[in-house]
Amino acid sequence: MSIQTMNKTVPPFSNRVLNVDESLTVATFARMGELKRRGADLISLVAGEPDFDTPGNVKDAAIQAIAKGCTKYTAPASGLPELRQAIAQKLKRENNLDYEPSQIVVTCGAKQVIFDAVVALINPGDEAIISAPYWVSYADQVRLMGGRPVILKTSEETGFRMTPRALADAITPRTKFILLNSPCNPTGEVYTHDALGALADVIADAGIFVISDEIYEKIIYDPAEHHSIAAVHPGVGSRTLLVNGFSKAYAMTGWRVGYGAGPPELMRLIARVQSQETTNTCTISQYAAIEALNGTQESVETMRNAFQVRRDLIVARLNRMPGVTCRLPQGAFYAFPNVSDLYGDRVRNDVELANYLLEEAETGCVPGSGFGSGDHLRFSYAASLPMIREAMDRIEDALNRM
Ligand SMILES: Cc1ncc(COP(=O)(O)O)c(C=O)c1O
Repeated sequence: MSIQTMNKTVPPFSNRVLNVDESLTVATFARMGELKRRGADLISLVAGEPDFDTPGNVKDAAIQAIAKGCTKYTAPASGLPELRQAIAQKLKRENNLDYEPSQIVVTCGAKQVIFDAVVALINPGDEAIISAPYWVSYADQVRLMGGRPVILKTSEETGFRMTPRALADAITPRTKFILLNSPCNPTGEVYTHDALGALADVIADAGIFVISDEIYEKIIYDPAEHHSIAAVHPGVGSRTLLVNGFSKAYAMTGWRVGYGAGPPELMRLIARVQSQETTNTCTISQYAAIEALNGTQESVETMRNAFQVRRDLIVARLNRMPGVTCRLPQGAFYAFPNVSDLYGDRVRNDVELANYLLEEAETGCVPGSGFGSGDHLRFSYAASLPMIREAMDRIEDALNRM
């Protein structure tokens, strides 16, 4: 570190931030950028965002908000009253959950409300239980606040789900909360009502909080059904922060709107954190979000259907490749094949295999170790069918040559 501080005994930067890894997705993007500059014809199956455009009615609502001059800070900072009302109605209508609008905070994406909750809950040394494979940001957000992520490994054998027994064993007097993500990024697994109920019993006994990340709720495939743990067990519902947003269901990643709903005391603290951090998310985006919830839901279904066709194609193609096995994801838009049988002299691990596919198949994917599982790769199928077909042809060919 070349930067010097006035006081040589004080490290120049925060140790908490220095402890956070650069995400493997970011590293993969950087490598892909380099290859593109060298003229490679790359296919990217890396992105964590729908390749569809934001629905027209949602865009129009934002344009109207601008025309009407709704371009100031949001009052109150926790979200437009009409939006929080629309979210409360959605949670009642679709999830059978009762929240007052005052129990809802609208944030710059689901990512922010999760981080705000971590800030509100974690004291240095506190533990948060996160099942692996996990979405990249959870553990680092806990580390940033001086907490200790306790990683609970799961495997294909349990359908990548935490078992109540494993959860009970992981809980200690320092456990503050458990992070649940169903449908899951990266595995696409969905917890059934019964599986959530069994976890909820353990959580209620321990009296810990739950952060339930339900951002992929609407990208779910028959016969799987989405359930929120908040609705499964009343004792757990009052200790749950339900997290959702607009990025995935309405193809609104760039608009930055997410929300949390939970017990009043926790929500007041989350609102306090947000008020010192971003004040509010973009007011114009919030008007768009009201239309997303209250307007036609046709585009949600169109996208879901398209994702299902792509899922069926990519999983069938991956399973035909020697050394590759892939479970059928029930939600989200990622295939997460086990590729550990391919490890040997030529490629020794997931990072080397992802690099090999980038060089030899000109196809980008994310190594599973970024999500806590070195046996897997993550392929996003938020890409067109012809692109997925071409990518699978290239990968099959590259693996046959390996
Ligand atoms: C599991 C999961 N949670 C939260 C987010 C963040 O979503 P947002 O764009 O609303 O911040 C993502 C985005 O990739 C995600 O995959």
